[in-house]
Amino acid sequence: MTSGRKLTSSISATLIRLSRIAAKSRRQAFALIFILGGCAQQVFADPSEVTNIFSPLSQPAQEIKETSLLVLAVCGVIFIIVAGLLIYAIVRYRHRAGDEASEPPQVYGSNQIELAWTVLPILIVFVLILVTSRTIADIQDRKPPPTAVQATVVGHQWWWEIRYPELGIVTANELHVPASTGDRRQPAFLKLQSADVAHSFWVPQLAGKTDLIPNKENLMWIEPTKPGTYLGNCAEYCGTQHARMLMRVVVQSPDEFDRWVKEQQKNVQVATNDDEGRKAFFANSCVNCHTIRGTSAQGKFGPDLTHLMSRETLAGGVVPNTANNLRRWVRDPQEIKVGCLMPNMQMTDQEVDQMVAYLQTLK
Ligand code: CUA
Repeated sequence: MTSGRKLTSSISATLIRLSRIAAKSRRQAFALIFILGGCAQQVFADPSEVTNIFSPLSQPAQEIKETSLLVLAVCGVIFIIVAGLLIYAIVRYRHRAGDEASEPPQVYGSNQIELAWTVLPILIVFVLILVTSRTIADIQDRKPPPTAVQATVVGHQWWWEIRYPELGIVTANELHVPASTGDRRQPAFLKLQSADVAHSFWVPQLAGKTDLIPNKENLMWIEPTKPGTYLGNCAEYCGTQHARMLMRVVVQSPDEFDRWVKEQQKNVQVATNDDEGRKAFFANSCVNCHTIRGTSAQGKFGPDLTHLMSRETLAGGVVPNTANNLRRWVRDPQEIKVGCLMPNMQMTDQEVDQMVAYLQTLK
């Protein structure tokens, strides 16, 4: 009686354990399917919706893609041969009944095979090195034509400072460049610097990654041909808000770009009536970090606010530049971006509203 009950309980315990294992592996299977699905979606997604390295819309991204497809194809062929041989060996020489009695024939060394698997990979690697270094040299040696747009991009924790020294423009997080057209080639040549730690400039559809290193200047260039907004982000871990250090490259038709330049070159209109918001801005320590050209605010640590309202986003590209977000950002930056260098100024609701009203005049 007891042994029967013991047997039943041990069987049910085993069944429960088995069902748990099954449930667990089902979860793992689902997780695997989700991951594979996500990867497939990235590769096959509509290129207009995803910043996809496989849908470049600029040099040098196009050139990089061609080289990487060649490398991928060579590696793919090698993978298929190796995996094919492995599967063939596993199936053809699998364990069969009656194999216990004898050992399979033992083969020691074969000069031909060893030569083949030494020489062939060396040749393949050599070809890949030549192709890759040609692409790298071709991209790095490109000289700016006289029509090129020159900009300096400085990485900060966690935003991008963008300067156009020849045009006298300073802005943040949104790099405007003209589209290169057939008869008017205007690549943008970028000097990359860092104000603090290492960052990395990466807009997948325009070019490969290039790091921004403290005390070292790196160079890169882009030559987009299609107007539009291209998304990128910092690609080198640089602290708590690294993932929220977003970059937008706004590619405009040459005429639109010229108009943008003219607007950005203007100083702010000095307000004749000294309103409360303006007073609040200049009475607080905002001026220590921010510049508003044409006023006494000449701080350098934070983004230039001269044409703040011409930008689509705030806080390093994290939120759209709307009145509500501007209010949230001014009231408590730490709520939107924990750890950012802009402090909560402990302003009253009224002061916040006045300050926002002033900032909204910076068009
Ligand atoms: Cu800047 Cu990561």
